[in-house]
Amino acid sequence: MTGPESEGSPVRRAVCPGSFDPITNGHLDIIARASRLYDEVFVAVMINTSKKGLFDVDERIGLIREVTAEYANVRVEAHHGLLVDFCKDRDIPAIVKGLRAVSDFDYELQMAQMNNGLTGVETLFVPTNPTYSFLSSSLVKEVAAWGGDVSHLVPPQVLAALGDRLRKD
Ligand code: PNS
Repeated sequence: MTGPESEGSPVRRAVCPGSFDPITNGHLDIIARASRLYDEVFVAVMINTSKKGLFDVDERIGLIREVTAEYANVRVEAHHGLLVDFCKDRDIPAIVKGLRAVSDFDYELQMAQMNNGLTGVETLFVPTNPTYSFLSSSLVKEVAAWGGDVSHLVPPQVLAALGDRLRKD
């Protein structure tokens, strides 16, 4: 065994949850920063059966795996159910979330307090890089669908996937 566990210190784990339909440079920035703070970072693609996405869950996972391949301590998994159960099953004590603006704070605070009340899991907020403070997967899809340039907002693999998908539909 190598790494922190073999040295007697506990492995520090965190999760970056989201829908990731698709992953953007804003998400990637948060995941990269979390990967520098924790020993293991799980990217949890949360399945919402009531929402039909542009990409199915396997496609989202494939894209996230490609664009996070350089981070050796990042793992990508899907989850259907409560985020706190994902954390409990994997012994993850911390959720890392990006905050883009004050408008994100209201709902994020509610979720953080609910999750903490359910199992004691903590939520750590990371201020989004200002370059991406307006960025969301929904806006990327809308702009791309109308032929706008989103090449500076998503990784090249995602740009290609958006082009393929939007040409087909
Ligand atoms: O990328 P999104 O859609 O803004 O992410 C929101 C997400 C998926 C992280 C949030 O809705 C979530 O954690 N859903 C899982 C179900 C759950 O645990 N709900 C209770 C939240 S307090």
